[in-house]
Amino acid sequence: MRISIIGVKGGSGKSTISLLLSKALSEMGEKVLLIDRDPLGWTSRILGLEGDGLVKSIIEGKEHGEFYAEKKYNNGKISVIKFYGEGPRFFTDVSIIHKNTVLLNKVEELYSQILKKKFDFYIVDNPSLVDFNDEIVKHELSIFLKNFPKVKILRIYVTDPSEPSIKATIDYIKKIESQNNLGNGYGLIINLVPPYPEELDKSKRDLKEALEETKLNSGFVLPFIENLFQFNGKIEDLEIPEEIKLLARQLKYLKGD
Ligand SMILES: Nc1ncnc2c1ncn2[C@@H]1O[C@H](COP(=O)(O)OP(=O)(O)O)[C@@H](O)[C@H]1O
Ligand SMILES: [Mg+2]
Repeated sequence: MRISIIGVKGGSGKSTISLLLSKALSEMGEKVLLIDRDPLGWTSRILGLEGDGLVKSIIEGKEHGEFYAEKKYNNGKISVIKFYGEGPRFFTDVSIIHKNTVLLNKVEELYSQILKKKFDFYIVDNPSLVDFNDEIVKHELSIFLKNFPKVKILRIYVTDPSEPSIKATIDYIKKIESQNNLGNGYGLIINLVPPYPEELDKSKRDLKEALEETKLNSGFVLPFIENLFQFNGKIEDLEIPEEIKLLARQLKYLKGD
C-alpha cells in the first residue's frame, strides 16, 4: 500500500507525520519504505541519509551514490530512499533527466531495484502543493506504477489549524481528488493545534466540516507537542503520538493481507 502525505503549506507537518507514520508501522512489524520526494531531504536526514539523492547521483555519474538506506533502531527498521538532491538544484536536475532518456532509464533501473525488495507500506513525503502533472511527481510515480500496477494508493492531507490554511487545503483536496482516479483521498490531519480545550474543540469542528465537504473518510486533530517541535534527533527518540498509532492500525487493517 502506498500512502502519500501531502498538503498546501510548508511547515504544516507533512515530513514529521511521514516519519511518525513510518515509525509506527515499522514497530507493528510492517516493512516500510519511506520515499523522500521533498528536495529539502529532512526525513532522509533524520534516518541518517545525507547523500546526493538518486537523481543527482545519476546525473553526476555516481551509480553507487548515497540514496538508499535501511535504518535499524531499537524497535524496528525503516528503509528510506532520497529521490532528489537538496535545494534549488533540484529544478535543473529534474529538467535534465526529463530530457535525457539514458539518465531517466538509469533512474528507473536503480529505483526499480529498490522497489523489488518489496515493502508492505510505501510512505511518500512531499514538498508543498504537489500536483500530478509536476515533474517532481511524474517520474517517481510512473516508475512506481510500472513496478506495482495494482498497488493500493491513499492520500493523507495535512494542514495547520488556521482558517486560511484549512480553506486552501479543502480547495486543494477537491482539485486533486477530482482530477485523477489514481487511488483515493483517505484522510485529513489538522496538525499543530495549540493544546488547549477551546482550540482543540474548534479544530475538531473544523475537521468535521472539512471531512463532510471533501468526502474524505477519516481524520484527526494533532495537537502541538513540545517534543516534536523542531525535532532534530535520532529516530529512536521520536515519540509516536497515540493518534498516529491509531492511524497506523487503521492502515494496516485496510491493507489486509
Ligand atoms: N504536532 C506537532 N507538534 C509540534 N511540532 C510539530 C508538530 N508537527 C510538526 N512540528 C514541527 O513543525 C515544523 C514543520 O514540520 P514539517 O514536518 O517539517 O512540515 P512540512 O514537511 O509540512 O514542511 C518542524 O519544526 C516540526 O518539528
Ligand atoms: Mg517537509
